[in-house]
Amino acid sequence: MSMKVTTRLFAVLALAVGPASAVVAQDAEAGAKVFKKCAACHAVGEGADHKVGPALNGIVGAPAGAIAGFRYSTAMVAAGEAGVIWDDATLAAFLTKPKDVVAKTKMSFPGLKKDEDLLNVIAYLKSFPDR
Ligand code: HEC
Repeated sequence: MSMKVTTRLFAVLALAVGPASAVVAQDAEAGAKVFKKCAACHAVGEGADHKVGPALNGIVGAPAGAIAGFRYSTAMVAAGEAGVIWDDATLAAFLTKPKDVVAKTKMSFPGLKKDEDLLNVIAYLKSFPDR
């Protein structure tokens, strides 16, 4: 992970836990709007199917590349085998710039630019804990 991403991650996490958290608390409802940027490729919720990307039920806390029935890139499977777990920090980094976390991922997404959007979309994903 590059220094740049690490620094940004700390900023994001500081936002999540810092004294101003009342203002920038994770907001799943706002995250649902952000998820529209993901919805061309991902579904989530009851009965969600794989699309271009895997269905994202239960993704927070899961190892990378481990959702049954989806054909991942070998890079994503290798990331999971190397111990990448989708927690708040790794998700924030991946959704900021996917290739900084998994260099050869086939997720072609330019990345979310706003810390607020990152926090909120992660909160949204957390609201679907069950596979
Ligand atoms: C253009 C299609 C596309 C868009 C848009 C997209 N993704 Fe993905 N995503 C993929 C693909 C394809 C993969 C599988 C990557 C691989 O196997 O390398 C993936 C993988 C992932 C993973 C890892 C899944 C796992 O089981 O390891 C997460 C988490 C994820 N996407 C979240 C998101 C979120 C959240 C958004 C929106 C902010 C988003 N993606 C936008 C196509 C997309």
